[in-house]
Amino acid sequence: MDFDFTEEQRLIQQTARDFAAREIAPKASELDKNGRWPVEIVKQMGELGFMGMAVPTEYGGAGMDTLSYALAMEEISAACASCGVIMSVNNSLFCDPILKFGTEAQKKEVLTACASGQKLGCFGLTEPMSGSDAQTMATNAEKTSDGWVINGAKNWITNGPHADFILLFAVTDRSGPKIKHTAFIIPKGTPGFTLNPRDHKLGIHAAHSCTVFFEGCKVPDSAVVGNVGEGFKVAMATLDGGRIGIASQALGIAKAALGTSLGYAKERKSFGVPIAQHQAIQFMLADMAVELDAARLLTWRAATMKDKKVRHSMESAEAKLFASEMATKVAHKAIQIHGGYGYSTEFPVERNYRDARITEIYEGTSEIQRIVIAASVLKG
Ligand code: CAA
Repeated sequence: MDFDFTEEQRLIQQTARDFAAREIAPKASELDKNGRWPVEIVKQMGELGFMGMAVPTEYGGAGMDTLSYALAMEEISAACASCGVIMSVNNSLFCDPILKFGTEAQKKEVLTACASGQKLGCFGLTEPMSGSDAQTMATNAEKTSDGWVINGAKNWITNGPHADFILLFAVTDRSGPKIKHTAFIIPKGTPGFTLNPRDHKLGIHAAHSCTVFFEGCKVPDSAVVGNVGEGFKVAMATLDGGRIGIASQALGIAKAALGTSLGYAKERKSFGVPIAQHQAIQFMLADMAVELDAARLLTWRAATMKDKKVRHSMESAEAKLFASEMATKVAHKAIQIHGGYGYSTEFPVERNYRDARITEIYEGTSEIQRIVIAASVLKG
C-alpha cells in the first residue's frame, strides 16, 4: 500500500489545515460552551467542497477520493470535532449511499444539493429500542397503491435538527423468516415527519442531534433508495464508509490533544526544568505519538480500499475501533500532562476528552466493531 500522497491529496490536506486554523479553531471553544450550531462554518465547508468530497463533480461534489476525505476530516476535527462529524454525516452517511444506490433523479435533485453544501443530509437508522441490533427496528413502511406510509421514531440523529433530508431505514416486510428493510429519502417538511428539540450530550456540543418521528408519513415510490427489501445492506455498506469518517475524526481529536500537550510540556516547568524533560512525560508523549500513527495507517488503509472498491468492512471496523479507543487514551494522557489545568476549561484538552468518547459509540460501538472484525477473522 502506497501512502505517498498525490499532489492533490497534499493540497486538500493543507487547504483543510489552513481553513481549520483560520476559521474554525478560534471559534471551537465558544461553539462547545454555547452548544452553537456552526452555521457559517457549515456554509464555508460547502463552498470549499468539503460536504461532498468523494462525490463526482457532475453531482455537485468535489470529485476527490476517500483518502483526501480522511485527510480533510482529520484536519477539521482537530480544530472542532463537532464540525468534523457534521461533515462526516453529510459525506459518508448521506451522499455516499445516494451516489451508490440512488436513482439518477435522486442524484440530480438531492445528491447535487447536499454534496455542494446547499442542503444538508442526515441518517436515520438508530431507534430508542434498537441501536447495536439495528435489524430489529420498529419503524415500518407500509405499501399503498401510490407509495408508502411510514410510522416510527429514530433517535440520536446527528444533523437532524438542521438537515433538509433524512435517509431513513424502515421495515417493509416482516412476513418471512428474515425481516426485510428498505431505505427512503424523506425531505424535511413532509407531513407526518416531526422533530424533538435537540439532545444534550457530554461532548460534540455544536453537532446537534435529535429524535425524529414519522406518523402516517406518506412518501412516493420515488423516495425508495436501492431495492425494496435490501435496505439493511444499504445501511451496512454505508457504515463501512462512515466508520472511516469517524476514525478520521478520532485522529483529529488525538492530533489536537497531542499538539496541545507538546506545547504545554515544553513551557511548563517543574523541579527546575520544562516537564518535557521528565521521562514520565516523555513516555506519555511517545505512546500518544505511536498510537496516533498506528491509527492513521489503519484509517488510510481502509480509505484506500474503499477507493479501490474492495470490500472493506473489516478494515473500516479495525480503523474505527483502534482510532476511537486511541483518541480517548490520548486525550486522557493529555489531561494528565496538563495536571489541574487539563481539568479546567482554560485548555482545550478537556473538550478533546469529552469529544473523543463518542467516537467509541456512534456508527457502531467498539463492541460492534469487534463483532464485525471477529466475523471476518473467523470466516478466513
Ligand atoms: N455490506 C453489505 N452487506 C452486509 C454488510 C456490509 N458491510 N454487513 C452485513 N451485510 C448483510 C449480510 O450479508 C446479511 O445479508 P443476507 O441476509 O443476504 O445474508 C445481512 O446484511 C445481515 O447481516 P448480519 O446477519 O451480519 O446482521 P446482524 O443483524 O447480525 O447485524 C451488525 C450485524 C454488525 C451487528 C449490525 O447490526 C451493526 O453494524 N450494528 C451497529 C449499527 C450501527 O453502527 N449504528 C450506527 C448508527 S448511525 C450513527 O451513529 C450516526 C451518527 O450519529 C454519526
